[in-house]
Amino acid sequence: MSAAETGPPRGPGARFIADRGADAGNLQEQAWLEVVHKMDEVYSDLLRYEVDLEAKNARLEEAQTFITSVLAAMSDVLIVCGLDGRIEKVNRAVCDLTGFTSADLVGQALSALVVEGGDAPGALAAFVRRPAADMLHGCDVRLRTRDGGVSDSVDMNCSARRDHRGRPEGSVLIGRPVGELRRAYAELEAAHASLKQAQQQLVQQEKMASLGRLVAGVAHELNNPISFVNGNVHVLKKYCERLQTYVEAVHAEAPPEHRARLRAELKVDKLLADVPDLIAGTLEGAARVSDIVKSLRRLSFVRNGPPETFDLAEVATTAVMWTAKGVRKPPDLRLDLPDGMIARGHAGQIHQVVTNLVQNALDALDGQPGGRIEVSGTVDGDRLRLAVRDTGPGVAEDHLLTVFDPFFTTKPVGQGTGLGLWISFSIAKDHDGTLEVHNHPGGGAVFTLTLPRA
Ligand SMILES: Nc1ncnc2c1ncn2[C@@H]1O[C@H](COP(=O)(O)OP(=O)(O)O)[C@@H](O)[C@H]1O
Ligand SMILES: [Mg+2]
Repeated sequence: MSAAETGPPRGPGARFIADRGADAGNLQEQAWLEVVHKMDEVYSDLLRYEVDLEAKNARLEEAQTFITSVLAAMSDVLIVCGLDGRIEKVNRAVCDLTGFTSADLVGQALSALVVEGGDAPGALAAFVRRPAADMLHGCDVRLRTRDGGVSDSVDMNCSARRDHRGRPEGSVLIGRPVGELRRAYAELEAAHASLKQAQQQLVQQEKMASLGRLVAGVAHELNNPISFVNGNVHVLKKYCERLQTYVEAVHAEAPPEHRARLRAELKVDKLLADVPDLIAGTLEGAARVSDIVKSLRRLSFVRNGPPETFDLAEVATTAVMWTAKGVRKPPDLRLDLPDGMIARGHAGQIHQVVTNLVQNALDALDGQPGGRIEVSGTVDGDRLRLAVRDTGPGVAEDHLLTVFDPFFTTKPVGQGTGLGLWISFSIAKDHDGTLEVHNHPGGGAVFTLTLPRA
């Protein structure tokens, strides 16, 4: 290799040549040049390696910082173990949870940190020593804390860590502290339970309200026949006293003129003519009372009794009448119910539905003069349809879907529970029926109950 080929010597070798001077023999110089050249090559290689190494180092550091920052940012706890069951690495969440530093923990046996609980204690320790292909899920563990206690529950998952040839090298445990979650869940559950209880109370209240309306209607209905039975019996009692006086005079064989005077004074003839009417009226009153009682019995308020067939028209009629009787100024009521509306189920519940619909219609009319409620029925193949229409303001368009929601009410506090339609809807569904609402083109709301025909 010649100097021309290799160029002028550079680097520390050049200084060396200068020190040696130009007096060296040509051959010797050649040999030196080669040595110098080799040294130069080695030197530049070294330089390149160093630059390379520095670049790699920088990348490694970057990766390390990245991984460390990710591990530190994890809110889940992370523990890396070797096959010997010793801790190799933990993240910041572990330190935060336990109060130990990473240096305290690394090198310790996992069992010194982790207390296993749950259904299969020991499963985690076994997995760490012999990591399997499958992950170990949902171990319920607690971590020992620096102050000698234990942490809240941690829901731990464990998977194998493998080397570049895929052989297990250790395991990685990742867990989520669930104590807080459990507490929040328990609180939520308690809140839910008390809400459910409040709801049940309200449902009960609404049922009692509809029973109350029924009782008010029944009381009103009974009042009339009972009052005239009562009046008639009073009159009969007086008649009886008069007859007794007269009959005593007859039996005492009083003189005929005395008897005639008594007969006129006591109006015995008029009295005798009046008695059949009084008795007939009383009988009719008693019959009406017994009818009311009978129809009440037919409603059979036993909730879970077996389903029975009943006449929807009859149940609807009593419901409409008794509900309307409860208001001071009942509106114009029109009933158009055909024969043969035979349904199957619980008459008492269907009575409640109609009572709710009629009560809502009455509320919608709110004593409005000239208000009208129309209750009409149709038999349509195997379906029975009962429509309750009022001439009130109707249901607002954006409420058409929500009126059946529990607690939806537009009535002032204390006047509406918002449960009537929800209960009615559920009853209709329980009977394989439906309850729907639309606004009538001529004004007012129409609620339609359909039930299968028995
Ligand atoms: N006939 C009707 N006309 C207009 N709005 C009605 C009618 N029936 C029900 N609504 C509306 O539906 C809401 C819910 O009714 P409901 O479930 O019976 O509860 P509540 O009567 O206690 O308010 C009522 O507050 C009212 O806004
Ligand atoms: Mg209501």
